Amino acid sequence: MKKLLDVGGNTGKWTLAITQASPETEVTILDHQPQIDEAFKAAEKAGVKERVHGVAMNLLDHSKAFPKGFDVVWMSQFLDCFPPKDIISLLKRAKNALNENGRVYIIEPYWDRQQHEIGAYVLINTSPYFTALANGTSKMYSAKDMHEYIEAAGLEVDEEIDNLGFGHTMTVCRQKP
Ligand SMILES: C[S@@+](CC[C@H](N)C(=O)[O-])C[C@H]1O[C@@H](n2cnc3c(N)ncnc32)[C@H](O)[C@@H]1O
Repeated sequence: MKKLLDVGGNTGKWTLAITQASPETEVTILDHQPQIDEAFKAAEKAGVKERVHGVAMNLLDHSKAFPKGFDVVWMSQFLDCFPPKDIISLLKRAKNALNENGRVYIIEPYWDRQQHEIGAYVLINTSPYFTALANGTSKMYSAKDMHEYIEAAGLEVDEEIDNLGFGHTMTVCRQKP
């Protein structure tokens, strides 16, 4: 059985997709309890609840380690919710949750990786919206910035794929030797 940690897994969209596609995968969601409760309901409906687990925690408490022993730590559209100091702490804790050959997967829409200028414009201008109307700290980052945070957390880029879906990038990171 492969073990995946879905950090900020929300109501389980990715968790359901991977557990349905891969019967050899079990997933643990880290999020607030109400989101985990919703994900459990969705997992039961989809017939995968035996392979979906959840741990409620405040992910902004840097002193709280993630559970350990994962082949994959998955962070989809999650790190853009936070300022750099929290991103680096989250990536360090993700690294410490990995098995020896495990990988951290980051999925984000970076403004410096868009195929069209309008895509970059829309993403850059999402940041003032986040600051003014959302939590005040979310920001759409460049891949260049994210690479600095990856490095600062003791990880390195193993593989990177641009232009997935609507201009998303998947960055696969491994522990630095
Ligand atoms: C933008 S959503 C992630 C969406 C999901 N991964 C996806 O790709 O569809 C961010 C998630 O992080 C969770 N989150 C944000 N801050 C958190 C915190 N301090 N502690 C626990 N969960 C948090 C939210 O509840 C939410 O589910």
